[in-house]
Amino acid sequence: MKKKFYITAPIYYPNDVPHLGHAYTTIAADVLARWHKLLGKEVFFLTGTDEHGKKIAKAAEKTGKTPKQFTDSLIPEFKDAWKKLGIQYDRFIRTTDKDHEKVVQHVLEKVNKKGEIYKGEYSGLYCTDCEAYYTEKDAPDFSCPVHKKPLENLKEESYFFKLSKYQNFLLDLYKKNPDFISPESKRKEIINRVKEGLKDLSITRTSFDWGVPFPLDKKHYVYVWFDALLNYISGIGYLENKKMFEKFWPADVHIIGKDIIWFHAVYWPAMLKSAGIELPKKIFAHGWWTVLNEKMGKSAGNAVKIDKLIGYAGADSARYFLLRAAPFGDDGDFSEKELINRHNNELANKLGNLVSRVSALIEKYGLEKTEIKNLKIEKTKKTIEKHFEKFEFDKVLNEIFSFTDRCNEFIQNKKPWETKDKKVLYELANAIKDFTILLSPFMPETCEKISKTFNFKIDLKEINKPLKVGKIKKSEILFRKI
Ligand code: MSP
Repeated sequence: MKKKFYITAPIYYPNDVPHLGHAYTTIAADVLARWHKLLGKEVFFLTGTDEHGKKIAKAAEKTGKTPKQFTDSLIPEFKDAWKKLGIQYDRFIRTTDKDHEKVVQHVLEKVNKKGEIYKGEYSGLYCTDCEAYYTEKDAPDFSCPVHKKPLENLKEESYFFKLSKYQNFLLDLYKKNPDFISPESKRKEIINRVKEGLKDLSITRTSFDWGVPFPLDKKHYVYVWFDALLNYISGIGYLENKKMFEKFWPADVHIIGKDIIWFHAVYWPAMLKSAGIELPKKIFAHGWWTVLNEKMGKSAGNAVKIDKLIGYAGADSARYFLLRAAPFGDDGDFSEKELINRHNNELANKLGNLVSRVSALIEKYGLEKTEIKNLKIEKTKKTIEKHFEKFEFDKVLNEIFSFTDRCNEFIQNKKPWETKDKKVLYELANAIKDFTILLSPFMPETCEKISKTFNFKIDLKEINKPLKVGKIKKSEILFRKI
């Protein structure tokens, strides 16, 4: 039986069109999904939209639409963006999907049966932009530490989830599973915060009605994070497709940004434990992108929208840039100049030229099969596998590109344009096959084109097989210099 791999990207707030930050998480998850498919696994990749709560209701109000009409109008923007960026998800879940809403209510009933929900009054601070509660300790000046806006002072009847009783359970979980939260720096932060103690979580609101109705009390609506996190189980059929759920759950990894790690590393495992559901295996929190060293956002007016991101040099170059320019757990700074530099120097000059030169020479002089002596990829492949296990996309790409450097040196030294040596050309064509397969999760469109030119299948098994000798024509230009 095939091994499974279940990966999730966050579900985004559709209060505006998607931008580079959303693309980053989604591309990373897509690359991993494609890599695990290459490894021969049965993969499920989930993403979607987080549509309930005050933030969306407020944004909708400004447009004069109902929240549902409003989110309906933005969903095509997300789907279209992912299509243009080559994202191959298996389901696009919306928290307004009926099957999801049922799961939210079902889980709440389970948690209630366990005696872990009680009625009380929430009195404290709230940021609608984060959809998160703050204490005076987190925000001594009563403004949101993330959005720098004044916090709302809430005082309302609310139902609570007994999160506080999970403190030891969580600390034990992090200790016994050192890989549960990555990177390490984030894991430490979470451990320290949890050690300070946990408050029970307010999980319902009465002051708005754009949410899942709370099954235990008609006046109440479910807190948006309790609703949103459950997408990870409803998306694979927790209630409606038991077989699929059993096949894919627990998730192998939740890919998220560092801003939402608290919800994923604390609320989520406690909720699952309370409902008697197995925990995910891993949470990986990546860093944040700034634009020319400024925080990216609507108010700053510097959010890089998807068409702009793709407009610089195409989808594959954008995918490549985002994963190469900063280690995955670190913050990165985006600049058009940097993207274009990498596009020109690394993609056009190194990769594009090599493919174009080799294919042109083969068209002219042909190929002759030979034993591969110089450009063996085995070691590179092994190193890449290790980097992928640690989510080190930048290192995977470095490794692949040092192999293409070797190919470029080889062609320079052997000068097949003078010697017309068909064996040298064969060795180069075979090397192109090998690194293209490894590069395909990052740049699917480009790699597809290369595979058509050199007549091979994008399949990890093809790496161990010698390239079939067939007719090869000069490749189209893969990367136009900008
Ligand atoms: N709806 C919640 C997630 C619920 S998951 C059960 C949410 N949505 S969001 O639209 O605000 O953000 C989603 C993701 O985009 C987060 O992982 C966040 O880190 C990422 N990014 C948003 N801006 C970003 C950058 N500037 N840089 C990198 N990623 C950023 O939170």
